[in-house]
Amino acid sequence: MEKKDIDWSSLGFGYVKTDKRYVSDFKNGSWDEGKLTDDDKVVLSECAGVLQYAQTCFEGLKAYTTEQGKIVCFRPDLNAARMSDSAKRLEMPIFPEERFVEAVKEVVKANAAWVPPYGSGATLYIRPYMFGSNPVIGVKPANEYQFRIFTTPVGPYFKGGAKPVTITVSDFDRAAPHGTGHIKAGLNYAMSLHPIVTAHKNGFDENMYLDAATRTKVEETGGANFIFVTKDGTVVTPKSDSILPSITRRSIMYVAEHILGLKTETREVYFDEVKDFAEAGLCGTAAVISPVGKIVYKGGEIAFPAGMNDMGPVTKKLYETLTGIQMGRIEAPEGWICEIC
Ligand code: PLP
Ligand code: COI
Repeated sequence: MEKKDIDWSSLGFGYVKTDKRYVSDFKNGSWDEGKLTDDDKVVLSECAGVLQYAQTCFEGLKAYTTEQGKIVCFRPDLNAARMSDSAKRLEMPIFPEERFVEAVKEVVKANAAWVPPYGSGATLYIRPYMFGSNPVIGVKPANEYQFRIFTTPVGPYFKGGAKPVTITVSDFDRAAPHGTGHIKAGLNYAMSLHPIVTAHKNGFDENMYLDAATRTKVEETGGANFIFVTKDGTVVTPKSDSILPSITRRSIMYVAEHILGLKTETREVYFDEVKDFAEAGLCGTAAVISPVGKIVYKGGEIAFPAGMNDMGPVTKKLYETLTGIQMGRIEAPEGWICEIC
């Protein structure tokens, strides 16, 4: 299979139309058999549930070319399970989890020419999503849905690649207690658009959201969870019912404890203690592990010791181990790597 003629190393995090996408429709209470298609267009009723009441959820994962030349993806079963959780909370039908994983494999295989080569710094981003498609005008769930998966080759989420980012503490809240912060609902991202545009206008890469109830605890950013490292080398990550349970973060905490032998803590993190951490980073499929160099808030700023050019030493070890596992350089814990072709 010949790869597409793309300058892989100059890709940013954007949409490039690839050859095939997967589509399955839900009607009369069941999903059809699903298929790959060339058609990248979605034609909907003007009154579709997704257009009126934002009934949509999505997932994000990546396919990698390993050092051995295989195409693999990372823990797709966890994305399938999280999409089921999102669907339940939004009163949408569940797309069966085994079918989700099979569909991911099918669509990646069909777009193998778009999977960036090993060592290029790029990966194939996979975006499964589902939306209410039939007309809905009273506030209620749709009864017809479409599940789709498209892929797009991507480079780093932040412009500087692995360079530390500068973030600001948002005046806006992302998720209410008992709301939808723990699922991957499109509506969580719609409400983050004004805050992120505001942050960018003010020269920041991302927003740190605090807990909406007390505004004293660290939650997450618009598209990634936080990890921190204490001065004595413990890896700490915020515990909250209103943040997305990141698959990258769960993997990092496992790597920290079981592979690197570090102490780990998943607990509430007060903003007041952030200044005492030695390192901070953002983690997620898109963000991978992006070091945080500086946090600016009303009345001050926190500059982490590694500065604005380098990752802190523990963050770097976590980054190298996680990406080493994803790219086949380091043996993966059982079940983490899903070989596609
Ligand atoms: N938090 C938010 C709000 C996200 O959008 C994402 C991205 O998926 C994450 C965290 C990281 O989750 P994951 O590691 O599963 O990609
Ligand atoms: C991901 O990391 O997959 C996400 O969905 C985050 C988004 C900001 C791109």
